[in-house]
Formats: sequence, C-alpha cells, structure tokens
Amino acid sequence: ESVKRGCDHVFFIGFLGAGKSTLARNLGSLFNRRFVDTDRLVERRAGMSVGAMYRTRGEAYFRKLETQALRSLRSERSLLVSCGGGVVETPENIRLMREMGFCVYLDGDLDDSLRQIRSYAARPDFRSPKHAASLLEHRRPLYQAAADLTIDIRGRSFKEVSYQCA
Ligand code: S3P
Repeated sequence: ESVKRGCDHVFFIGFLGAGKSTLARNLGSLFNRRFVDTDRLVERRAGMSVGAMYRTRGEAYFRKLETQALRSLRSERSLLVSCGGGVVETPENIRLMREMGFCVYLDGDLDDSLRQIRSYAARPDFRSPKHAASLLEHRRPLYQAAADLTIDIRGRSFKEVSYQCA
C-alpha cells in the first residue's frame, strides 16, 4: 500500500450518467463531509462550461485542467470527489487519486448511461450510442484497475448503493 500523504479523500469514478455526483453529494450531507465535482472545479478555473471548453479549446485543454484540479486537492482533507467520466484516460490522474485516497467505481449499465446522456447537452458527441459503447468498453478495464472498490449499480436504488458505500 502506497503512502497516502495524509489525504483521505474518496473519489467516485465511472461512466457518464452513472450518478457519481448525486451519490457523492448525498453521502456528503449524510456524513457531513465536503463534496466537490472536478468538472465544476475545472469550469471555475477556466471561466467557461465544459461544453464551451470542448468546443473552443479542445479535449486536451480540458484534460490538462482536470489534472490540475485533482492536484489542487492535495492540500484539502476528507473530501468526497465526483470525477468526470474520462478521468481514467490520463494515467497521472489515476496516480493522484490513489495517492490521495480511496477510489470507488460505480459500475453501471450502458443503457442507463445512454438514457442520461440523451438529456446531457454539453457533449453532443456522447449521444451516439455506438461511440458511447466503444468508450465504455475502452474505459471499463481502466476504471476497474483504478478502483479500490467496485460497486455494481445495475438496477439498484440510490439507497442500496449508499448503504454499500457506507
Ligand atoms: C467526460 C465526462 C464528463 C466531463 C467531460 C468528459 C468523459 O463528466 O468530465 O464532458 O470523457 O466521459 P461526467 O461523467 O461527470 O458527466
């Protein structure tokens, strides 16, 4: 087990639409822990939405800020962190998360994600089910390798999943 520099964050990872933010926020209010969402940290730093960033600066720019956002959490304590679905695409991010705490993978169903994605305006490229399916296929092993704990969220309620996390 690596030295964790005294950080004890819990990172929630998983595909877009898995419910990472909702779960992390709710667990945060249950256990009186601060909740942050890396997408929101990136947006604050860039002064624009994730969608606008993709359109005007491209994905590489977003990924760079995403890593900076994670790095900035080193000086914080006991956060519940909801990560963007693509966080595992950058090996440095996986190293940072493992260094700073514990990683929980919410392993969901592609169809459930697609239902969420349809109402997700920021990234039109995700709306192609084929594209989403191949991304998930590519990422699932990355999520699994990064995770200290994998929670199968297929067909389970928020309450059931929260109990398992707790
Ligand atoms: C992304 C997922 C989004 C956001 C960005 C990239 C991805 O986060 O970080 O649009 O590559 O899967 P959520 O999973 O929180 O929606």
